Amino acid sequence: MSQYPSIYQRSLRDPAGFWAEQAEALHWERRWDRVLDDSRAPMYRWFAGARFNTCYNALDRHIDSGRADQAALIYDSPVTGTVQTYTYRQLRGRVARFAGVLRAQGVKAGDRVVIYMPMVPEAAIAMLACARIGAVHSVVFGGFAAPELAKRIEDARPVLVVSASCGIEPGRIVEYKPLLDQALKMSAHPVAHCVILQRPQCKAEMQAGRDLDWLEAEAGATPAECVAVAATDPLYVLYTSGTTGKPKGVVRDNGGHAVALAYSMRTVYNTAPGEVYWAASDVGWVVGHSYIVYGPLLAGCTTILYEGKPVGTPDAGAFWRVIQQHQVKTFFTAPTAFRAIKKEDPKGELRARYDLSCLRTLYLAGERCDPDTIEWARAQLKVPVIDNWWQTELGWPAITNPMGIEPYPVKPGSAALPVPGFDVQVLDVDGKRVGADEIGNVAIKLPLPPGTLSTMWGNEQGYIDNYLTRYPGYYLAGDAGYQDADGYFWVMSRIDDIINVAGHRLSTGQMEEVLASHPDVAECAVIGVADALKGQLPVGLVVLKAGVDREPETITRELVARVREQIGAVAALKKVLIVARLPKTRSGKVLRATMRAIADHQPYNVPATIDDPRILEEIAAALAAQE
Ligand code: COA
Ligand code: AMP
Repeated sequence: MSQYPSIYQRSLRDPAGFWAEQAEALHWERRWDRVLDDSRAPMYRWFAGARFNTCYNALDRHIDSGRADQAALIYDSPVTGTVQTYTYRQLRGRVARFAGVLRAQGVKAGDRVVIYMPMVPEAAIAMLACARIGAVHSVVFGGFAAPELAKRIEDARPVLVVSASCGIEPGRIVEYKPLLDQALKMSAHPVAHCVILQRPQCKAEMQAGRDLDWLEAEAGATPAECVAVAATDPLYVLYTSGTTGKPKGVVRDNGGHAVALAYSMRTVYNTAPGEVYWAASDVGWVVGHSYIVYGPLLAGCTTILYEGKPVGTPDAGAFWRVIQQHQVKTFFTAPTAFRAIKKEDPKGELRARYDLSCLRTLYLAGERCDPDTIEWARAQLKVPVIDNWWQTELGWPAITNPMGIEPYPVKPGSAALPVPGFDVQVLDVDGKRVGADEIGNVAIKLPLPPGTLSTMWGNEQGYIDNYLTRYPGYYLAGDAGYQDADGYFWVMSRIDDIINVAGHRLSTGQMEEVLASHPDVAECAVIGVADALKGQLPVGLVVLKAGVDREPETITRELVARVREQIGAVAALKKVLIVARLPKTRSGKVLRATMRAIADHQPYNVPATIDDPRILEEIAAALAAQE
């Protein structure tokens, strides 16, 4: 008999009872007064009144229950030729000492710490050290440039920043410290202390009185014990792209987050304590927070922190080497990584050199997974390939194949069924549920389960306006999709100006702001065009100011450089086209969706409200000329 439907229905019928049972798996300093506090609905809170420490549950609890000598974290770094294993005891030792460093610098419970780090164990150590003393971390992805880092520092207002001298990208060293120094100069918020990890590949210049050498400070530190905080207190703030240049600070609490992640490790990922779990992502993204650091450690698994790429470090067999060497049972990455491997090794010749019999399941998320990639991965690995849909805001999968309850048939292109706790619905413009196979807006009926965002940092109204107002009583996901007659969800695209480039979420509005700031640009639009490797790539279309007679190539080069300097290499805007005018409606709205359809060779209707239909032909010619 199928179990999933009854478990799912129960999670919606009796959320408090359901999540109270899941919470038993964790250690609570003080139990909750109310599992689900709806006194300020729609601002729901989970485990109100409870006292909790996330670091204790991720490390100390396992040491106390016999896992002290089990590997907790394996750092595998093909770019530096390093493999280093930390047992739970060793990891706790470093985390406790670094927590002592933070405390000695005056960091207290509730204070923010910004972490701007490459994929080194110290990134995870810094996160867990914050959790240990109740401080709130905000990790900024290393591929972001100084102005983006500055925006996050201004919004989070940290008392301290943790960083490293450099990151290592294939073929180049990315010096982080000059970027940090620049960001601190740009930010209106003053930061008194920075802790810098000096890596052997490059030595950062330190500012006396402000910058502290990580290893020296750690060597002299007194280990700090765990500080229990309110379960509803924030564990971290993670910024993600919105539709404007201002990133949204997603706030995650302590108690609900841990309950949800521990539950997901069993139900979504079907893992047991002691198993090796690998999420090939970056700690700067939500996948890294939930499934490199917190999820696997809360579950007593061994996690892998991989500093490398799917291809080029050294070749397209890199993932298979890691899986074999560390006996990975569960592997999670973004479809784009598989497309990169498939491009370099379409016949799987490198794959055939490795014994991957340890692998049980591959999970893919971060972007829509095209059926071809799923089929290729399945043929190569001969294990189930499971898509799951979620977002930074949600913190853990909301739609998946419930492998830990029972596997359902895979339909390539669909992330399958809603996860217990998530009442996912597809709504029409008026908020009515649409019928099977009808496309609409993906929404989730409130309350969201534990582990999802509790608010936007310092901006509760922003949370309400962005997510809860479009459909009262529901969370608006910002995606369009449909549910088929078997109940499977097919999430197809965004409904806003967000694009997904190599599994990275980026705002076209933000790139437009950067292009528009160039003195020669009169107006512009950025659209996400389909790309066989990265899913989507941004393309800029700019109209120059009258009288500008500089070389077009010089201007486009400057525009590309400007986006890289202001947002970061990760924005991957490499194409900017100069056009005579942009297609608009008579009310002046730029027809981005129509341009996107033209670029993707998709059928499109010429909107009845268009100002001048001939402009679309000009745009089509400009886009065709650059292909
Ligand atoms: N620090 C500094 N720069 C970084 C960086 C970091 N942490 N991460 C990426 N960059 C740079 C890259 O070097 C690249 O620079 P370039 O324009 O000089 O080449 C640029 O940002 C774009 O990076 P990316 O989009 O990752 O493209 P890529 O061509 O380097 O690699 C893939 C393509 C598919 C191999 C890569 O995107 C990948 O591994 N994706 C996995 C998906 C993933 O981890 N998603 C996270 C969510 S699950
Ligand atoms: P992020 O917040 O960076 O995780 O990006 C979330 C967005 O990525 C979602 O809103 C979707 O648009 C897209 N996305 C993530 N996973 C999937 C998936 N499995 N299928 C379709 N779209 C996805």
